[in-house]
Amino acid sequence: MKTIYRRKSARLAFFFFMLASMTTMAQREYKTLQQGWKFTKGNPENAERPGFNDATWESVSVPHDWAISGPFDPKGDGNTGKLPWKGEGWYRTGIDLAQADANKRIYLIFDGVMAFPKVYVNGKRAGSWDYGYNSFYLDVTDHVIFGQKNILAVYTNTVEHDSRWYPGAGIYRKVQLLKVDPVHLGIWGNHITTPIVKPHYADVRISSTVLNMSSRADSIKVVQTILDPKGNELQSKEIIKYLNPKEEKNLEVTLKVLDPQRWHVENPNLYATKTQVFFGDKLVDEKVSTFGIRTTRFTANDGFYLNDKRVQLKGVNLHHGHGPLGAAFHPRAMERQLEIMKSMGVNAIRNSHNVAAPELLELCDRMGLLFFNEIFDKYDAKADITDTTNFEEFAHRNIKNFVLRDRNHPSVFLWSVGNEIGDVQWNIDNGFQKLHTMVNYVKKYDHTRPVTLVNDNMQSASMRHFDYYDIHAWNYGRRFRLARQMEPEKAVVISESASTLSTRGFYEFPLPEDKTEVTGSLQVSSYDFNAPSWAEIADDDFMWQQDEPYIAGEFVWTGFDYLGEPTPYTGMTAKEMNLGEEAAARSSYFGIVDLVGIPKDRYYLYKSYWKPEEKTIHILPHWNWEGREGEVTPVFVYTNGDCAELFINGKSKGKQCKNPVSMNSTERFRLMWKDVTYEPGEVKAVVYKDGAVIGEKTIKTAGEVSMIKLSPDRKTLMANGMDLSYILVEAFDKDSNPAPLADNALQIEVNGVGYLAGVGNGNPQSLTPFKGNTVNLFYGKAMIIVGGGFKKGLTNVSVRGQGLNEVKTQLEIQ
Ligand code: GAL
Repeated sequence: MKTIYRRKSARLAFFFFMLASMTTMAQREYKTLQQGWKFTKGNPENAERPGFNDATWESVSVPHDWAISGPFDPKGDGNTGKLPWKGEGWYRTGIDLAQADANKRIYLIFDGVMAFPKVYVNGKRAGSWDYGYNSFYLDVTDHVIFGQKNILAVYTNTVEHDSRWYPGAGIYRKVQLLKVDPVHLGIWGNHITTPIVKPHYADVRISSTVLNMSSRADSIKVVQTILDPKGNELQSKEIIKYLNPKEEKNLEVTLKVLDPQRWHVENPNLYATKTQVFFGDKLVDEKVSTFGIRTTRFTANDGFYLNDKRVQLKGVNLHHGHGPLGAAFHPRAMERQLEIMKSMGVNAIRNSHNVAAPELLELCDRMGLLFFNEIFDKYDAKADITDTTNFEEFAHRNIKNFVLRDRNHPSVFLWSVGNEIGDVQWNIDNGFQKLHTMVNYVKKYDHTRPVTLVNDNMQSASMRHFDYYDIHAWNYGRRFRLARQMEPEKAVVISESASTLSTRGFYEFPLPEDKTEVTGSLQVSSYDFNAPSWAEIADDDFMWQQDEPYIAGEFVWTGFDYLGEPTPYTGMTAKEMNLGEEAAARSSYFGIVDLVGIPKDRYYLYKSYWKPEEKTIHILPHWNWEGREGEVTPVFVYTNGDCAELFINGKSKGKQCKNPVSMNSTERFRLMWKDVTYEPGEVKAVVYKDGAVIGEKTIKTAGEVSMIKLSPDRKTLMANGMDLSYILVEAFDKDSNPAPLADNALQIEVNGVGYLAGVGNGNPQSLTPFKGNTVNLFYGKAMIIVGGGFKKGLTNVSVRGQGLNEVKTQLEIQ
């Protein structure tokens, strides 16, 4: 994964240029309210009042997930991670506002608060929201007092929130204070579209909403200047309108960009517009907004086109959580997730199933990932809709924030208004009316992209719900068939594929005869043959897409394991199998990589198919099977080659080739030696492509565990309070062979300016706290996450493995 950092640097240069230009804009000032918060669980009386004594509350920085530190409840609901996320909580912080700012408008922008936040400024209710995943903002000018410290208090409540996974709790995304002139651009007030994109020019249409909150009427001039991907100023254009006090108007101009450098997944060129607002003659506001010049097109019979080039969507679904960090959003944790996914060949992300953190879209723009942007899972308590919610009003304001915030991102190619909503698919309880409402509001705020609803009930297509939206998006099992037959003019995307199950490093024998066969071991065998009844293995989706090229692509369930939804070891299966309620796991088995981002075998299967240009040779299982001597122990090779010869201790087990026309999907995409018998020693695969050897790989039976090694993904961090280093811990024998069964306990010490942000090992059954300083190796590996903190200096990390050496690494925080 190292190459990624190198490739990124050119893009980063522009990104930092953009940031730099933002800070120089004296007219508008953003302050992220990160440090200096106090937090308590519960609902103490008068907590909103300025004079309330919060001295005994916990000091925290925001983003913050108050439930992730647990403790896990062994008997708790595995579907939501066995973590205590239900409850109320309060946050308080002080905001200093200078007397000199007395003429400014003050906004608070919340990227996401779980859930039902009520915001108080100096004891007065300034506003509230419901849907915990959405961004919202408040104009708090009338509540603040300039020239003194203001007390911001935020009440959060997850009691009414419902979830099918671990949702997190509290102010889990960033909060910003924005100071602007009374005459200013609206929050998310720029709308940038490219109505014409030709090889030699593009028309860029920029509409800016300007608010006049002053008491004076005057002319408003908006000047738009386009910046090319290197930050050079191109063309400028201005427009003048007259605004009365309390009036708001859209000012629109169209500019031309010659020889546009398109935004593409391989080359994500980003342009920007500098918007300057003059009131009378005075420059009062200035903002830089990035955008991309690209065309997207779904076709009924030939998939998806980006810039007139067909792009097969190689996508993954990602939930919003970050494993041991919970829902607390750290940009670096997100960036790392995307890097790992990209290294496997991913070119698209679906944010299942809720509004994402805004930084995720910025990262997708910058890294060249298409974004399937979804707002809701269900239209019920999972969306924080209660019995008293006015659906129409709820839909409007939530879709408005969602679309206005995200519509300028070139990565966004599709909007989704919901996932697998039974009532909507069957038109029960005004289902189609609700669907129509949602789709219409999306179109109201963005007419440039298609809208979809994600479906799971094949027969429901007979109701023709697809007449309300643009694209057939279906989950699993080729369920799109009926819809496609009824409406062949619409393109098809597999919004959820696979749902293959496995535990990293764990194998069972014999191979399962049925995908749903699990043994009660509380783990799932990593031969990649298991899936729940409704789903399938990876190879099936590859095959369907090969055979039906009208399919635009797939979004695998899921890229990363996530907290909650531990199919097949949910409470229900535990009961059916008489395993006891504690057998239910706390996190999923669906991920291509585990909860801390360590690849499972399946990672290499996807990579071999999605990134055929890169050499992949991966052998499974590991070769430490003491006690299985002479027993059948199948060996698989995942490779981009087409054939391989397998050797056990130098003896050939024959050459196998992929069969590109087999209707047994695994034969097309994997090489399998199913009758190999185990003998300790070494397994070697020599791989061929088009008749020539492209490489070989050997794995060996490891001796006793004798050492651990630390591999930090980054040794230099920024002192911004948010930066992270993921330190992989791996066990080896004395000859440096990976020790695949090591389960030693690790003791971790972090000294210096950084801090221990979390630990984990990818075991869905582990109830070891994520925030403690101990973790066990799980099948030879574990992850330590170190945060850089706010101070510059050094951080020393030392890890002592039970019965093993102590190892150290040092991080520099700049
Ligand atoms: C789908 C659902 C996902 C997840 C998945 C597990 O039906 O949309 O959220 O639950 O099943 O296979």
